[in-house]
Amino acid sequence: MIRITYVEDGGTRHTVTAQAGRSLMQIAVENGVPGIDADCGGSCVCATCHIHVDTPWSERLAPPDEVELTTLEFAVGAEPRTSRLSCQIAVSEALDGIEVRMPSTQR
Ligand code: FES
Repeated sequence: MIRITYVEDGGTRHTVTAQAGRSLMQIAVENGVPGIDADCGGSCVCATCHIHVDTPWSERLAPPDEVELTTLEFAVGAEPRTSRLSCQIAVSEALDGIEVRMPSTQR
């Protein structure tokens, strides 16, 4: 199992486990993690699954493609170095232990 920790803006941590192949968005929704609304269901058009991924974890991810970058332009508080869309990140064993942060605008 892969362990993932979602950290709310206020510091509340939600650690869950998941199978490889699920997206960080799907895992958050399935586990009732607040702050990941995922209004478009993972179609990469809503930006309500916005998260921040810090180093060293960000370095283990494939970079965002053009579609994700375009949608991130609509994410409130997006930061070029850390912002990602959680629906576009599939977890693998290499991400066991990853921590991601939710933006202050998502609760
Ligand atoms: S769920 Fe809509 S962009 Fe990720």
